[in-house]
Amino acid sequence: MRKILIAGNWKMYKTQAECKQFLQAFLPELEEVDEKRGVILCPTFTSLGAMSASLHGGRVRLGAQNIHWEDTGAYTGEVSGPMLTEANVSYAIVGHSERRQYFGETDKTVNWRLRAAQKHDITPILCVGESKEQRDAGDTEKVITQQIEQDLIGIDQKNLVIAYEPIWAIGTGDTCEAVEANRTIGLIRSLLDNSNVSIQYGGSVRPNNIDEIMAQPEIDGALVGGASLDPAGFARIVNFKTPANLSQ
Ligand code: 13P
Repeated sequence: MRKILIAGNWKMYKTQAECKQFLQAFLPELEEVDEKRGVILCPTFTSLGAMSASLHGGRVRLGAQNIHWEDTGAYTGEVSGPMLTEANVSYAIVGHSERRQYFGETDKTVNWRLRAAQKHDITPILCVGESKEQRDAGDTEKVITQQIEQDLIGIDQKNLVIAYEPIWAIGTGDTCEAVEANRTIGLIRSLLDNSNVSIQYGGSVRPNNIDEIMAQPEIDGALVGGASLDPAGFARIVNFKTPANLSQ
């Protein structure tokens, strides 16, 4: 069964104190949210411990923003699977375009990180997406296909989430048209062995466009950056309305 998953990627925002403030405002807003919707928050590594203590094993799951492929070793600045599971992390974002763009992440290292996450029973959220130049050149399908094929070599598709994040839509307010995102996510699904993998859309998701995005049949959730930093805004996103309850 495809699961609905709404995740907040906090990138390099929020101190531990700010994380706690967020939770105080956000958690009460979850009471009415359908149990079937998974809610994930991905703070920086330094806030995982404090977040875990505040969440008390409730319905919000914790995600990390990356994971190293080795369990231990001389890898300055990296964090490994055993360190994340100790902090009750259930998900790890892998291959985010900001990692690929600014920190030299390649399909090879993305693949190693995916394997490490699965080895530690952490569900990886694999990010794929094309740049503006690639889109303008008509290469979206080619780029996505290559990323999916390379990144998923030897990966168990039963413990996997994918996020389609067109780079040109990230942090720009320039959301991918919902039908276009739906089409590309359909393409991604057609490349998988397991059609039940949950596939999220990410890129300028906001309270005012989440209902339209989630109304698309191929889209199983959202990976939200900027709009997940505000508790009221993210609460509205998590409480998205489906076509059945839009008029309520
Ligand atoms: P924005 O929602 O700020 O566009 O960021 C999307 C993103 O990169 C989530 O991983």
